Amino acid sequence: MKPNHLSPADQQRLDDLHARLRAASARNIGYPTNQAFDYSELFRFLEFSINNVGDPFTGTNYRLNTMEFEREVVADFARHTEAPEGQWWGYVTSGGTEGNMYGLYVARELFPDGICYFSEDTHYSVAKVLRLQHTRNIMIKSQPDGQMDYADLRETLRIHRDVPPILFCNIGTTMKGAVDDLARIRAILEDLAIPNAYIHADAALSGMILPFVETPQPWNFAAGADSISISGHKMLGAPVPCGVVIARKAHVDRISRSIEYIGALDTTIAGSRSGLAPLMLWHRMRSLGEQGMRGIVQGCLERAEVAVQRLQAHGIPAWRHANSVTVVFPKPPKSMMEKWIIAPKKDIGHLIVMPHVTTAMLEEFIEDFAQALNSPS
Ligand SMILES: Cc1ncc(COP(=O)(O)O)c(C=O)c1O
Repeated sequence: MKPNHLSPADQQRLDDLHARLRAASARNIGYPTNQAFDYSELFRFLEFSINNVGDPFTGTNYRLNTMEFEREVVADFARHTEAPEGQWWGYVTSGGTEGNMYGLYVARELFPDGICYFSEDTHYSVAKVLRLQHTRNIMIKSQPDGQMDYADLRETLRIHRDVPPILFCNIGTTMKGAVDDLARIRAILEDLAIPNAYIHADAALSGMILPFVETPQPWNFAAGADSISISGHKMLGAPVPCGVVIARKAHVDRISRSIEYIGALDTTIAGSRSGLAPLMLWHRMRSLGEQGMRGIVQGCLERAEVAVQRLQAHGIPAWRHANSVTVVFPKPPKSMMEKWIIAPKKDIGHLIVMPHVTTAMLEEFIEDFAQALNSPS
């Protein structure tokens, strides 16, 4: 056997894996990972060990990088998040979690004694990040629709008025797609006369939805965010987890350090970083264009609304938030989990109408759901 060649048995394992992934991709209706993309034009870049180590805006000694493309991707995201002209900084992350970690890291460096407030409906990884960073934190109650309970937030902030707050806000919660109201949160801060606060927006999924709708909820830099994290493999879609984080430049400047070995500013969390992910996001955004994204988002929102109505017609109390592709319903019977990839939590379940979730897929899912409810188990 030649070196670098697989045995027939190992080759078979790859074939089996490929078939399994293809089948699973057509059944993924509960997790927000878009499966509909074509990066075949980029296959030739797999022959290089590309690495975007360091700050994408200052360059690095390691010249096998795609930082030129990364800068364009981040600039596009800055435009979509209404970041203040010339006063933002960001990079392509390994996903929404790293972006949230980055935002919370910047916040903690600005306010070392600050307390982070986040709602019960926040993604599970955030509590872990806060533990890692030793950031004091308090969980705020959620409302039944998934938004932060603003009365609980107000009361908790009032008790700790002497400590700068770090507000971790959900722009589309994982289970219910709820958007915390940044305008209302800022009004609470103002009312309590708390001048120093940091607001991080976790816009993992909705960060690539809200820029493309007619009437978005207040969610971005224009609404007062100090940093925003968005996943790349969710709404845009990519074969590897990735994302973008953007923060106000004045905050970032206070934490950057120059490292001689890489010849770059050490502003990112990871050292070695993917050079392929920025290239993919660049390719996706350039090939779709703004109109293309708008069309994809509009299609997903329309199919989500039809799904709500069709589920309700079957007597299933389904609902969704404005501008959300997440359709919430009572937890489906266990038999549904065998065929469909869904993500139940406590007593609810949801489907998320991503670009690959077709009308035919939705109809099959809804038929199965109605049948499962009617068949005695
Ligand atoms: C609201 C929210 N935040 C953060 C994350 C984590 O993002 P990632 O999986 O890109 O790390 C998710 C993932 O589903 C999410 O729904």
